[in-house]
Amino acid sequence: MTDEPDPQADLPQATRDPSRSLAVDTPVATPMPKRELVTRRIFLLGGFWTAMALIPVGLLGSSLDFMWPRGGGGFGGPINVTPDRIPEEGADPLNIVEGRFWLVNMEPGPTPSGVDTPGGLLALYQKCPHLGCRIPYTAGFSFRDLKGWFRCPCHGSTYTKRGGVILAGPAPRPMDVFPLLVNDDLSITVQTGRDFEGTGSVLNPRLSTPWEPGATTPEPGEAQSSDEGDEEEDETQDSA
Ligand code: FES
Repeated sequence: MTDEPDPQADLPQATRDPSRSLAVDTPVATPMPKRELVTRRIFLLGGFWTAMALIPVGLLGSSLDFMWPRGGGGFGGPINVTPDRIPEEGADPLNIVEGRFWLVNMEPGPTPSGVDTPGGLLALYQKCPHLGCRIPYTAGFSFRDLKGWFRCPCHGSTYTKRGGVILAGPAPRPMDVFPLLVNDDLSITVQTGRDFEGTGSVLNPRLSTPWEPGATTPEPGEAQSSDEGDEEEDETQDSA
């Protein structure tokens, strides 16, 4: 008995005659249909709601920025002014940029607006009560035989250096006043912000604060009552 050679011996297993090989059932992967992660509908809805959310930001953005309370000693909170920055009595007012106010150190006595002042410190908000322009102090500007006025560049409202009282122009009231406190080391702390809009009055010169530790800006009511006291005194003198 002779062994016959296998004619498929050299062939790869897969190409051999199936009738003479073991059948192998190889699974074939079926590709999944492609799915869009972001559908056109979701994309359009997302764009719509983003636009809706941005409308109020666009309309109110600048106002919100102005009203937003600031940390770190900026406008809208307490501002500290060191003693070396405080102007001499009667000197030109100093602009405190970070607090958006002018710091005035007034001499006592009658002011150009006809109101007496006890003298001292006054923090005047630099925003014009007319339409909101920044009011500069103009040392060289002459008016009523006096040099040195706060004068708004937008429509010419002109305010006294001693008290920020309006004597010419369209503004509806004097410059607004920020209350202040004199600290033990003679630095001052000024409360700033839009909360104080509308506080300006012809009695501003009476709101001056003596530059001595613990002194604070009088309440507007106190200035009013001292004004009434002066009027009564004047009437008494007239009738005497
Ligand atoms: S904004 Fe100052 S006078 Fe008009």
